[in-house]
Amino acid sequence: MNYRHHYHAGNFADVFKHVVLGRLISSLQRKDKGFLYLDTHAGRGRYDLARAQHGETLARTPEWPAGIGRLVGRSDMPVEVGHYLAAVRDFDRRCGNLTDELRFYPGSPWLAKGWLRPQDRMALCELQPSEFAALSSEMGGIPRVSVQPLNGYVAVRSMLPCSEKRALVLIDPPFEDANEWMAIVEAWEDIRARMPACTVAVWYPLTTRARIDVFLSELRSRQLPPTWVAEIAVAGTDSPLKMRGCGLVVVNPPWRLDEEVRRLATWLASVLAVAPGAEGGLVWLVSET
Ligand SMILES: C[S@@+](CC[C@H](N)C(=O)[O-])C[C@H]1O[C@@H](n2cnc3c(N)ncnc32)[C@H](O)[C@@H]1O
Repeated sequence: MNYRHHYHAGNFADVFKHVVLGRLISSLQRKDKGFLYLDTHAGRGRYDLARAQHGETLARTPEWPAGIGRLVGRSDMPVEVGHYLAAVRDFDRRCGNLTDELRFYPGSPWLAKGWLRPQDRMALCELQPSEFAALSSEMGGIPRVSVQPLNGYVAVRSMLPCSEKRALVLIDPPFEDANEWMAIVEAWEDIRARMPACTVAVWYPLTTRARIDVFLSELRSRQLPPTWVAEIAVAGTDSPLKMRGCGLVVVNPPWRLDEEVRRLATWLASVLAVAPGAEGGLVWLVSET
């Protein structure tokens, strides 16, 4: 496990994922009844963007300026993106940054913590020991938050079904090796067997279209309930970028969130574009009947 998210924190993929995460949480909160938010690949929780400029030995080009950096200072953003940016800004201030330049970026655990209500609960899994140690010192001991040094794919078996009977699972793996795609499909089978109505959001990189299509068709062949897929591409298909975009598969999506996410994906792709051919959109993989 060589992956360290701090090199990527706040990049275009984080922006897209975290904006949609905010909309998922907000939609689930249309009902008063609490739910479990399970983050199977939580990361360290807080990222110092100044550290993103250094690899283990070499200087690196930070990714956040082409991500969240594009949003800071804009006054024309959709209200939902403004809601996300305000959460990031608030976190940055609370971490002690009083300058105008962004310094501290919240990972999905801190963003979700800011958005959850007292009746909601959070479970975070992180397998990499140093990332777990950082996450645990950040969030361990907070009421209704549990931080576990577990393999997130295995944890879904012990944590679901949950007592709340409603859950949102975020699966956000590093995609370090080719087995990741099948591990997600198997995790879905485990989730379906335990809690078929659970809302599941899976992040994936937009690399090879054919690989993604195989993944989606593997998922579809496993009794998939209503599901949509939202994507943003920051460059066209002829781009030499290793990752020219990303997507989110959302299983059992909240009612009528599709139109909102389609609009946000389109706007984000236009603002985060780095080359011609950028686009955002949403398609139903299994439609609602
Ligand atoms: C993309 S990062 C997570 C980012 C985080 N969800 C966010 O949005 O801020 C993926 C994380 O998963 C961790 N990881 C890798 N394999 C794992 C596994 N099987 N179970 C739990 N965590 C894992 C990595 O160490 C890394 O911190």
